[in-house]
Amino acid sequence: MHIDTNIAGCSLRAWEKEDKPALARNANNRKVWRNLTDAFPHPYTEADADFWITTANQATPSIHFAIALEGAAVGGIGIIADEGIARHTGQFGYWLGETYWGKGIATAAARAMVAHAFSGSLFQRLEAPVFAWNPASMRVLEKLGFIREGVTKRSVFKDDQFTDSVIYALTKNA
Ligand SMILES: CC(C)(COP(=O)(O)OP(=O)(O)OC[C@H]1O[C@@H](n2cnc3c(N)ncnc32)[C@H](O)[C@@H]1OP(=O)(O)O)[C@@H](O)C(=O)NCCC(=O)NCCS
Repeated sequence: MHIDTNIAGCSLRAWEKEDKPALARNANNRKVWRNLTDAFPHPYTEADADFWITTANQATPSIHFAIALEGAAVGGIGIIADEGIARHTGQFGYWLGETYWGKGIATAAARAMVAHAFSGSLFQRLEAPVFAWNPASMRVLEKLGFIREGVTKRSVFKDDQFTDSVIYALTKNA
C-alpha cells in the first residue's frame, strides 16, 4: 500500500523493518510524546520501534501507516477501530518528527488518510481527541473539515498535569 499526498515526495505506506532507526530517532522526543496517549513510550528506544513495526502490521480493522518523505519515515498516522456499537468509528491520530513540523506535512498526510479511510465501508466516523494545549493539531483537523464537537473537562492526565480534551470528528456523509 502506497498513498500519495498532495505534497510531492510525501506519502503514506506500511511500516517497514528498515524504519527502526528513523522511527526511534523521530519518536524519541518529549514534545511529541506529550501530545499523545500513554501507548506512545518515552524515552522511545529501538526496541519500542521494533515492537511498533510488528504491531502496526498485524491484520486488524485498524490502520497504521508511516508518513514518508522521499521514502524515509518521518512520522506516523493511524486509525484505531472502536468496537461493538461504535465499530464504524475510528480514533484518528498522527505525529511527526519535530524537524518536519510547520511545513503542511501533517495536513497533507491526514487529508490522504481520511480519503483512504472513507473509501472503504468500515469507517463512517473519525474522531480525534486533542489535548487543550495543542492548537497546531486542532488547526490540522479544522483545515480538513473536522468539527469541534465538544470538550471533556479535565479528562486527560498527561505530563503530570490535568488538561481538557477537545473532541474533533468528521463523518463520511456529513
Ligand atoms: C501536531 C502536528 C502533527 C502538526 O504537524 P505539522 O506538519 O507541523 O502541521 P501542519 O504544518 O500541516 O499544520 C499546522 C497548522 O497549525 C498552525 N499552528 C502551529 N502552531 C500553532 C499554534 N501554536 N497556535 C495555532 N496554530 C498553530 C500552523 O500555522 C498550521 O496552520 P496553517 O496551515 O493554517 O498555517 C505536529 O506538531 C506533531 O507531531 N506534534 C506532536 C504530536 C501531536 O500533537 N499529534 C497530534 C495529537 S492530537
